[in-house]
Amino acid sequence: MKFYIATDHAGYALKDFVKEYLASKGHEAVDLGPDSDTRVDYPDFAQKCAHAVVADTGSFGILICGTGIGISIAANKITGIRAALCHDAYTAAMSRAHNNANILAFGERVVGKGVIESMIEAFCETTFEGGRHAGRVNKIEGCVYSQ
Ligand code: RB5
Repeated sequence: MKFYIATDHAGYALKDFVKEYLASKGHEAVDLGPDSDTRVDYPDFAQKCAHAVVADTGSFGILICGTGIGISIAANKITGIRAALCHDAYTAAMSRAHNNANILAFGERVVGKGVIESMIEAFCETTFEGGRHAGRVNKIEGCVYSQ
């Protein structure tokens, strides 16, 4: 599988770890930055990754910030992106099986390296179930929610 990876400063320390883990499992990892832990704004890197995933059919993304919250919210503003903020292998697997997630997001301040490996493995090994879930996922793209 091909992954585009981006973080903010609070996720930067995990970027090389994730790239090495992906490579060890035979996956391709494209690093979209940042290049240091200098403070940056997570929406900028969320959008970079989201646009790359949308433009490259069949690719996936991994986004990391302090909590995973801001960077996943920002990515989900891009049409065609389904970024899932995950905390364990179960949520990572379900994000693929039921939500057809194309970006896995998590927080460097929230999960440890063992959990990260298990989330990535679950995300990679689980396929979208389609069926009743497909209709729901399609509604996400077309829906304008009223308050
Ligand atoms: C940065 O301090 C932090 O706010 C950011 O990484 C993220 O957790 C936001 O959701």
